Amino acid sequence: MFFDPADGMRPPPLKHSPYKSLVVPRPIGWISTISTDGVVNLAPFSYFNAVSDDPPLVMYCPNGGHPEGGKKDSLKNVEETGEFVFNLASWETREQMNASSEHVARGIDEMSHTGLAALPSEKVRPPRVAAAPAHFECVLQQVVTLPKGRGGQGNYMVIGQVVGIHIDDGIIVDGRIDIGRLRPVARLGYFDYAVVDEAFEMRRPD
Ligand SMILES: Cc1cc2nc3c(=O)[nH]c(=O)nc-3n(C[C@H](O)[C@H](O)[C@H](O)COP(=O)(O)O)c2cc1C
Repeated sequence: MFFDPADGMRPPPLKHSPYKSLVVPRPIGWISTISTDGVVNLAPFSYFNAVSDDPPLVMYCPNGGHPEGGKKDSLKNVEETGEFVFNLASWETREQMNASSEHVARGIDEMSHTGLAALPSEKVRPPRVAAAPAHFECVLQQVVTLPKGRGGQGNYMVIGQVVGIHIDDGIIVDGRIDIGRLRPVARLGYFDYAVVDEAFEMRRPD
């Protein structure tokens, strides 16, 4: 089949938009930020990825708004303070990761609301999720304003430079990150997720 998304995302026989089911698996950026008032926000973003390694840059996309009006806290906070932390979501923290997507009132600390212990960061103010096996401390490099949605909602891409990397020593085996110990979770379409605990190797031709 072929269709133009401008005509709608569910032409028969599709019952749901296939869009996010076809860009899979998407890594999850579990992003902690802090407001100027010191309120911690934590939320998962599957529009997340690393975009370069020199300098190390990562991006996440807080699209749409906050139920109380205005931008999502993960955007508002990073615009105000210029800092965020990427926490790696693994199999062990999958339930808390999902719970942290709840839209809660602006004044609530989402790290403790989700029952997660926080660890201080080395170089930035937002704290880290203690239970995550790896963290990137990031400083804001750029917020890219993307085209608005058909409903008028704002879409944004936050790009940050990684200024500090924490790794749980227990996931390092023979000097490499062991994927079977890391067990990252990734987003598929619908309500589906994948967990990565196996890998295969292919060498480049040159
Ligand atoms: C696995 C997962 C991935 C998500 N990915 C995104 C995303 O890429 N962009 C987005 O705007 N919201 C995404 N959400 C929803 C946000 O996590 C949710 O809106 C969250 O409360 C962010 O709002 P806040 O920054 O105001 O806390 C995702 C939710 C889940 C469970």
